[in-house]
Amino acid sequence: PSKAENRLVDMHEFAADMYHHILLNTEEGQAALDYLENRGFTREMIEKYRIGWSLPEWNYMSSALLKKGYTEEELTDSGLAIAREQSDGYFDRFRGRIMFPIMNESGKAIAFSGRIMENTKQDAKYMNSPESPIFQKSQVLYNFHLARGSIRKNRKIVLFEGFMDVIAAGKAGVDNALATMGTSLTSQHIRVMKRFAQDVVICFDGDDAGWEAAKRAAIALNEEKFKVEVAVLPGKMDPDDYVRENGSEAFKEQIIGKPHAFIAFAMMHARRHKNFQYENDLLQYIQEVLQLLAGRSTPLERDLYIRQLSTETGLSQEAILQHYRKLE
Ligand code: CTP
Ligand code: MN
Ligand code: MN
Ligand code: MN
Ligand code: MN
Repeated sequence: PSKAENRLVDMHEFAADMYHHILLNTEEGQAALDYLENRGFTREMIEKYRIGWSLPEWNYMSSALLKKGYTEEELTDSGLAIAREQSDGYFDRFRGRIMFPIMNESGKAIAFSGRIMENTKQDAKYMNSPESPIFQKSQVLYNFHLARGSIRKNRKIVLFEGFMDVIAAGKAGVDNALATMGTSLTSQHIRVMKRFAQDVVICFDGDDAGWEAAKRAAIALNEEKFKVEVAVLPGKMDPDDYVRENGSEAFKEQIIGKPHAFIAFAMMHARRHKNFQYENDLLQYIQEVLQLLAGRSTPLERDLYIRQLSTETGLSQEAILQHYRKLE
């Protein structure tokens, strides 16, 4: 990294320490600390993930960074400050948010995501650092530096959507946890993952968005020769909701410990929102599943899933197999 890039990393390290200090040791941080405690965070978890609080002021972090000797240009290059449009000057990007530092592979902060405490319609729930010379969204997976050892040891990655899920998983002893941070999984993400494991368990949110994202991630990882499994949550819960409602044991044993094979998951996905009373739904289901099987299944899998299709739909295995041969 260049000298300029090192300075940007140092700014983020300084900011991470400052946000963290404000959360843990000041009166201004108390409400955020209470919020986190209510969500099941212990002090140990807050320290492990270096969580912080940004004061609801326009220039608090900017002033502190200028005082440290960083320039106005560095402030805006880092993304920690935003240049004003109508006039000179700049203001802090993160104000009044719970701060999650995003670390590089060496564990140094290179970006932030800040969560508002009260969900409102006006404010985005999470505000993120922009791309910068030290932060490329399409390459960074949250928690990589903490999870690396455990991923190597388990030869497996558990992939989540968000910060809260990774942290809940960590509390439950699932340490080989990474998160996409809500964006779609890129080929660069996959390349990073591939260096450390060939097996992945996808555990995304139980809402429709989570199911769609899990399907896309599963296909992308399958195409890159990962052994893909998908852990499914009941209802619209996300992993963090599940841990809070059912506890760590249940999460580890019932959810992460009982993932569905890639094709079984894809069949569940195809069945969602379909009603087999309607011929269209039924035929579309068979079509979707056979298309999925074509090209990526072993003969045994084909046999297994065609048998299952026949049981589910009441159509004969012969008819289904005949249709399959046309797609192959
Ligand atoms: N995300 C984001 N910007 C948003 C919403 C989400 O960057 N406006 C990212 C965050 O990394 C978040 C992840 O997408 O962790 C998953 O989003 P979501 O499921 O909505 O949030 P949760 O992680 O469940 O957060 P919480 O439990 O606090 O609602
Ligand atoms: Mn979600
Ligand atoms: Mn299940
Ligand atoms: Mn979620
Ligand atoms: Mn959540």
